[in-house]
This record gives sequence, C-alpha cells and structure tokens, in this order.
Amino acid sequence: MQIRSVKGFHDILSPEISRWHYIEKICREVFELYGYKEIRTPHLEYTELFTRSIGTTTDIVEKEMYTFQDRDGSSVTLRPEGTAGVVRSFIEHHLYTKSPTHKLYYMGSMYRHERPQKGRYRGFHQIGAEYLGSYAPGADVETIYMLWNIFKLLELGDYIKIEINSIGTSESRKKYKKALKAFLQPNTKDLCPNCKRKLETNPLRILDCKNENCKKITEKAPLIIDFITEESKKHFEEVKNLLSTLEITYTVNYKLVRGLDYYTETVFEFTTDKLGAQNAVAAGGRYNELVEMIGGPKVPAVGFAIGMERTVLLHKLKFKEWKESHPKVFVAWLGNKTYTTAFMLTQTLRKKGIPVEFGHESKSLKSQLKKANKSKAPFTLIVGEEELEKGIVKLRDMEKGIETNVQIDKITELL
Ligand code: HAM
Repeated sequence: MQIRSVKGFHDILSPEISRWHYIEKICREVFELYGYKEIRTPHLEYTELFTRSIGTTTDIVEKEMYTFQDRDGSSVTLRPEGTAGVVRSFIEHHLYTKSPTHKLYYMGSMYRHERPQKGRYRGFHQIGAEYLGSYAPGADVETIYMLWNIFKLLELGDYIKIEINSIGTSESRKKYKKALKAFLQPNTKDLCPNCKRKLETNPLRILDCKNENCKKITEKAPLIIDFITEESKKHFEEVKNLLSTLEITYTVNYKLVRGLDYYTETVFEFTTDKLGAQNAVAAGGRYNELVEMIGGPKVPAVGFAIGMERTVLLHKLKFKEWKESHPKVFVAWLGNKTYTTAFMLTQTLRKKGIPVEFGHESKSLKSQLKKANKSKAPFTLIVGEEELEKGIVKLRDMEKGIETNVQIDKITELL
C-alpha cells in the first residue's frame, strides 16, 4: 500500500515553494530593518512549558497538543506555537542580563491536532517576532506597524483588516471572568455543549464561539474593557493614538480575547474575509507576565505570529501567476568525447554563480534541446566534438533560436 503523508500534514512543492521563499525573504528584510535577530528553538519541549504558558484550559492544551512520553518517561510536546519556546530560551540563556531589550524572530513548523480544513493544518508554519523588555505602548505599535508593513510589502494590505483590543492584566481578567460567568449562567441551557463546558473552565472563549445561539447570548455580555485598570486603559489609549498617528486603519473589537492565556493588555489580529472560516492570518499581543510565569524575571514583551499557509493562500489569490526560478543556461553535449568538458564547463559556470542545468544521459541534440526548453533556461550551450577541437562551443538564444560560436574561455564573461 502506498504511504501517504499524515492527515493534516502537507508537503510544499515547487513552484509554490518560491512564494514561501519570497514571503520569508520579505519578512527577514523587514525584521533586519527593525533590529530583530533570528532565533531557532527546538520543535520538542517539555510539556510543562506549554501547559504553564498557554494555559491548561485552552483548546490548544486541552485537546490539540502532540504530547507523548519520551524514552526516559518525561512528557514532551511538539511545539504548538513559538512564543513559549522563545521565552524559555530567553530565560535559559539569561539574555535579560545581556541587554535590557531583545528582538527575536523565528520561522518554522508548529503542531496542533485540529480538525483539518482549508487554511487549517495539524502541521503548519509560522513566522513570528517577539520584542522583550519594553512596557512602552510604542513597542506594541511598532510591532503592529512592522507586521502591517510586511503585508503591505507583500501587496496584501488590501486583503487585511486590523482588529485590536485590550484585555488588561491577569488580575483584571479574573474579575471579568467572574462577571461574564454571572451574566452567562442564566442562559447556560441555551449554550452549545462546548460553551457549557467552557463556562466552568474558560468563559472568555465563549465570546469566540461561532454558534449562532451562543453569539446571540454574548451580544450583550459585559466587555473586558470595562474591567481593566486605569493604567491599562491609559496604555490602550496611547496605543490607539499612536496607531492613528501612523495612519494605520484598525477597528477595536471589544470581544477579541485570543486563545492563549499568556496575553495581557494589547491583543490584535490581522484578519481577512478571503479565506472563509480561517480568517486570522496573523495574530499576537502583549504578554507582560509570561517570562515570570515560566520562571524568569519580570520582563514585559509583545509579539506576533504570521500563519504561513494562510498568507500563501492569500498570495495565490492575489497573484495567480508566480515566477519560478529557472537556470540561466542549459549545457547540452554531443558525442561521448565531449561529456567531460561539458560536465567541467557546467561546474565552472556554477562556481561563477551562474545557475546551470545539465543532463548526464547521452541523448540526441533534439531531445536535449527539448529538455533545455522545458527547463526555461534562456540560453543553451551546445558542446559538439568538431567545435570543441577548435576551442569553440555554440551559444543558442532559446527565444530567438539564433546560434553563435563562442570561444570556450570567453563563456563566463559573456553570460
Ligand atoms: P495564534 O493565534 O495561535 O498565536 O497563531 C498565529 C497564527 O498562526 C494564526 O493567526 C494563524 O494564521 C496561524 N495558525 C494557527 N493555527 C493554525 C493551523 N492549525 N493551521 C494553519 N495556521 C494556523 C500564536 O501562535 C502566538 N504564539 C502568536 C504570538 C507571538 N503572540 C505573541 N507573540
């Protein structure tokens, strides 16, 4: 029986991969501009890292993590997101002693056992950025602005809406949860089974439920913004003012609460109406308590993660055609005596940085030219026995079909 990839996991093939490279390149360039350094953390972490940071009553921890027992009996988990690992690494390497602020970015796969559908996978990829060490509202805004610039440079800005909210401190959230629970309790029987359970474990998530009945019930629910401290309100006001100064269009979504417990203060989502149910293309927020929560000092932070698969889907919608990289030259050879020279010529050109395609199988000129055409190389070098004796090869312009004789030692220069 044929072996297929695991359900919810997917391969990324050419030509689609060139879109991934393009998006990654834009992100790296923007991160460099903002002073971010790349960090690579392991895909596998001790389970406790995620239960402590993401929260035991979240969907991710309750039902989506790939958790198993390692050979030494310890519980380990494939990372469902990148922030926790970055913060673990930040603490483990005492980065906070080296500089008051750190800007770190990462790209890589994440794992969540969700129900696969368009834009939602079990093995997916994120590009994330974390700014550790600043309480300033300007740090939130800079983070949002950087993310916005990435989508603008990708020419996807017109597909994206920015939603923001403030969820205050964990203390404020405790008070809000109580009030929300009290508000929802009289309607318990009308909530969907999942929300009924959430009422006890994590009532905030009920605000996110897509069920029409639940949506109706939460319509008049108290809002978290009315439960946050004066300081949090001031922080949020400054964030909004600065966003407006930068002429960033956003909406305040008072029901935006995010699905991970570590957030405090500003939260945001970059959403689209082009991808159906999976409308969040990127998301993030502030997490002033997380470093302490997992054993580090008191260090505030803010960050985001872009969902790569969803960004690529948007990119495909916007740019139906996308360039694939092609070799510049195809080297064809005729007769066994020319093979070694042609092979060596290929290596010389590559050493000079010229992308070359070469076929090792001995074939007729016609079939080699067919292959050259398929490779989309604009030029073919034809190494023939007779010409070779005179130190010459033929250079064929594939579009015009014109062939010219070229001195073999002048080729690199010419190309
Ligand atoms: P998140 O909202 O869980 O946040 O994920 C960020 C983005 O990853 C989502 O907006 C979505 O585009 C993408 N994503 C999430 N799950 C899937 C999936 N199953 N399939 C495809 N794409 C998916 C975080 O992960 C936080 N760590 C973000 C952050 C960084 N907050 C602060 N710093």
